[in-house]
Amino acid sequence: MSEVVLVNDANDVRTITLNRPNKKNALSHEMYALMADAIIAAEADNSLKVIILTGSDSCFTAGNDLGDFLGSPPELNAEERPPVTRFMFALLEAKKPVIAAIEGPAVGIGVTMLLHCEFAYAGENAYFLTPFVNLALPPEYASTLLLPQIVGQKKAVEMLMLGEKTSANAAVEMGLVTAVTKSGEALARANETAQKLAKKAPQAIRLTKKLLNMPPEAVVDRMNREGELFATSLHSAEFKESVTAFFEKRDPDYSGCAE
Ligand code: COA
Repeated sequence: MSEVVLVNDANDVRTITLNRPNKKNALSHEMYALMADAIIAAEADNSLKVIILTGSDSCFTAGNDLGDFLGSPPELNAEERPPVTRFMFALLEAKKPVIAAIEGPAVGIGVTMLLHCEFAYAGENAYFLTPFVNLALPPEYASTLLLPQIVGQKKAVEMLMLGEKTSANAAVEMGLVTAVTKSGEALARANETAQKLAKKAPQAIRLTKKLLNMPPEAVVDRMNREGELFATSLHSAEFKESVTAFFEKRDPDYSGCAE
């Protein structure tokens, strides 16, 4: 039997590929557990700078396995977090940038996970569905908070209450995805961005991600917070390397900077 989640490390990037095409990459407990493990391990590995999440050529994911939802739903009061929650928390807590590459349908949690990714590239055949209400379920994993923040209240209401298809072009217009590519080219585009990110100063990328994901606060508080981090970073090995590279007229190389 083939692996339902593939994990491939190359050029500083971990690519996690959903691989259950005969079930449209519907996410089983096993798949969530493998995805959570792959993200947590990538976070712990200094040689990996970026994580890519992708699916098959014609389907990102049909969302949660509906058979699992019916037969073995995640237990609210379980002692251990169920695999789906472990996966969503691994994604939420990831300090490294995460990029999604989507072809075909992204359904349910397939959309929810995008709200926690820094970049998302969609082939022009991609579409997005959040049919929670159509299944008599409410939305999940902070999507009622994040989706309105990202696409605006009215678009979020439309997606979450009607659960109709949002095309790749509509998704980019509303800010749900970063860019649309030709069909079949989303992963290549994700890799291009991953390579750009992998060459940047890892700590500076992590701080930027942290700041971008912080809850709203008073402007003065954010100025002070950024000011502290900025001042500290002026003493970092990464900053020294950036400036040295500038004066030596070469690209910076952060591989020697401790993380
Ligand atoms: N859970 C379990 N199995 C699923 C599934 C899911 N979420 N989505 C698809 N499958 C299975 C189908 O039952 C079918 O299995 P079979 O070949 O044994 O009959 C197979 O995957 C192919 O699905 P099919 O519906 O024929 O593919 P499609 O290309 O016509 O449509 C989707 C693709 C994603 C639009 C459609 O499958 C769909 O709407 N799936 C359910 C999505 C959903 O409600 N997810 C939960 C959100 S909370």
